[in-house]
Amino acid sequence: MASASRSFSRALRTAAPSFRTTSTRSSARFVATSQNTFRHQQRGYATEKEGAPDKYEGNPSGLVWGAGALLAGAGVYALYTQKPELFGQTNTKKIFTPRFEDYQKVYDQIAKLLEEHDEYDDGSYGPVLLRLAWHASGTYDKLTNTGGSNGATMRFAPEGDHGANAGLKAARDFLEPVKEAFPWITYSDLWILAGVCAIQEMQGPKIPYRAGRSDRDLSFCTPDGRLPDASKGSSHIRAIFGRMGFDDRAMVALSGAHALGRCHTDRSGYSGPWTFSPTTMTNDYFKLLVEEKWQYKKWNGPKQFEDVKTKTLMMLPTDMEIIKDKSFKQYTELYAKDNDAFFKDFSEAVVTLFELGVPFEQPEDQRYTFKSSFD
Ligand code: HEM
Repeated sequence: MASASRSFSRALRTAAPSFRTTSTRSSARFVATSQNTFRHQQRGYATEKEGAPDKYEGNPSGLVWGAGALLAGAGVYALYTQKPELFGQTNTKKIFTPRFEDYQKVYDQIAKLLEEHDEYDDGSYGPVLLRLAWHASGTYDKLTNTGGSNGATMRFAPEGDHGANAGLKAARDFLEPVKEAFPWITYSDLWILAGVCAIQEMQGPKIPYRAGRSDRDLSFCTPDGRLPDASKGSSHIRAIFGRMGFDDRAMVALSGAHALGRCHTDRSGYSGPWTFSPTTMTNDYFKLLVEEKWQYKKWNGPKQFEDVKTKTLMMLPTDMEIIKDKSFKQYTELYAKDNDAFFKDFSEAVVTLFELGVPFEQPEDQRYTFKSSFD
């Protein structure tokens, strides 16, 4: 309110010349009138003594004028706050409400950068962008409704420094120019939008998207240990993904993301890609698990597996669980045979993952589906 009044008086000062002249003239008139009144009052005082009424009878016409002026002032002020453009002002207070087209522009910008920066890893930042979106979301705890993609708290040292998040600075830095170009989007919405873009641009399924995440301060950082540990077994996988609310089928579908990207010795300690096409989303991860023979890799690093035939591909101990565990295995076999079933289940599970713990205003049936470079 106070700043509106300040802008209002500033508007009066800078408004059209005709308005200014009028107001200056009227105040000059006002000064003259008040001086006259003063002189008149002095004379009147003298006259009163000479038989003027000794009781004040009010000044009804003055009151009416005063009230009228007040009303007129209020009217102009109301008009100013509603339509500042009439006073030569632009409405700087107007809040920008991004729509689908605006988010599509952000998507397009990320897609363009992905294409331009093919110098990274196997030729794309796509996998590491997806990993950023997953690690931002995968901290969710359904019991306490804490963690999740709302907040983008990985920007802060406590969470950014968690061992599981090693290397994700590359993804966050990659998105900085996008944040600068579209400052209205929150980091938390941007990271998830980048994950969606990465999947679609690597020829994966459509991932419908909702916006509405807000950035939070470092007090919302989650404790270390909420993301999965690759050296563990099936009960660990179920404990971690169960905490987020997923069932066995969704856990296997989500693991299919390892068709993409690679492990880096300087990040997780593990080494190598899971598939021969680490920048294209396919069901090859499941096919390879089902069809290839896997053995322990002999090396000076953490326990991991390599394919017997070429020794160029890898599997983490947790990856091997989804072919060993009976309940997980049925879905691994299904997805190895049926890419459509994998894409459908993966898309559904990722949409859920990316939305965990976010209090959206945008209804579920009004999610945005972005056009990819392939449409
Ligand atoms: C049991 C569950 C999981 C474990 C233990 C796990 C572990 C790992 C590890 C150790 C890496 C290598 C990081 C590096 O050295 O750079 C990695 C990479 C990756 N993970 Fe997972 N992950 C799991 C689930 C997921 C899920 C659910 C997704 C996505 C939906 C995902 C997406 C990725 C991607 C795309 C990469 C490649 C990143 C890159 O190329 O830089 N992971 N994961």
